[in-house]
Amino acid sequence: MKPKIWLSSPHMSGNEQAYIKEAFDSNWVAPLGPNVNGFEIDLQSYLKEDRYVAALASGTSALHLSLILLGVANGDEVICQSKTFSASAYPIVYQGATPIFVDSERETWNMCPLQLEIAIKDRIAKGKTPKAIIAVHLYGMPYKVDEINQIALKYDIPVIEDSAEALGSNYKGQKCGTFGDFSILSFNGNKIITTSGGGALVTKTLPQKEKAVFLATQARDHAPHYLHSHIGYNYRMSNIIAGIGRGQMTILDSHVAKRRSNHQFYVDAFKDNKNIIFLEEPEGCFSNRWLSCILLDSKSTREGLRLALENENIESRPLWKPMHQQPIFKDAPNYLNGVSDELFEKGLCLPSGSNLTDIERNRIVKAVNTYFNS
Ligand SMILES: Cc1ncc(COP(=O)(O)O)c(C=O)c1O
Repeated sequence: MKPKIWLSSPHMSGNEQAYIKEAFDSNWVAPLGPNVNGFEIDLQSYLKEDRYVAALASGTSALHLSLILLGVANGDEVICQSKTFSASAYPIVYQGATPIFVDSERETWNMCPLQLEIAIKDRIAKGKTPKAIIAVHLYGMPYKVDEINQIALKYDIPVIEDSAEALGSNYKGQKCGTFGDFSILSFNGNKIITTSGGGALVTKTLPQKEKAVFLATQARDHAPHYLHSHIGYNYRMSNIIAGIGRGQMTILDSHVAKRRSNHQFYVDAFKDNKNIIFLEEPEGCFSNRWLSCILLDSKSTREGLRLALENENIESRPLWKPMHQQPIFKDAPNYLNGVSDELFEKGLCLPSGSNLTDIERNRIVKAVNTYFNS
């Protein structure tokens, strides 16, 4: 059996263990400490735009806290991009609210502004103004920020920017992770930088960050004893994990460059293959190319290629199955145009790690070419 090539595996810089050692040496083995503060400052300096960052246990917990901070509660409706990972939508349900799924457009594969406005008007006509819009920069490609923000502003609905996959991407020169009323990041094991598991909430004001940290640390009121007037969560990032994050921040830009070079490598390698289509960057969009994705001509080609790669011990994965197709969300209202269904049928993510070697990249190209030539 040939060695496994993963879709997207962790890639350490070598600096991580020094931060972890420091945490052990100073006995900051807790969900607070210098690495947590340092990682937050590193992220804030990277994102700029005067944002505040709260380091948390996961991107999912960051989404959950955003909804809580926006006052989303039982019986509310929240609009969510249908083409995404389930974690974008789960926290809506944690709050007892209903997800309203909106389809994608073809230029970025993200939330379609036309469908969004149709959905908002229809929900209002049916009696409820959505409490928030969760828009996602899928695979690192920025969504149509101007168009989505304009609609959000028109109907006075806050935007939660799910930037879990898009750290290092930018839209018209501004970093993804700074466009929402709240924005979230993920440092899960497969992301462009990883802390093994972790995430962050990005806020526009310091009080919002402080409220998020308060809720993330079991909502302890100011008192010498334990006093609670809110329900809290155990969502804070550990100081050990944050040490990994600080090490990873030293190589974030080079990871973006490596992932973009993987994408270009595939574009060049398959330029004569008319069966393979790539998503181009629309004007103003700079994608971190977290995952390199291709579209094939049909579901059977996509599945045939995936199995051919699997035979060679190469991991690939169909594009996210839209939320409106998921059994758990089968009763949720949706506003569809067929785009995300088609992308799911025809799309495949190729191995995209920043640690892919030339030998591995050539093995992938050879396996794809063999499939199409057989
Ligand atoms: C689009 C998207 N949203 C949210 C998440 C959740 O992040 P986490 O795994 O850190 O909870 C992920 C990834 O895992 C994701 O890809």
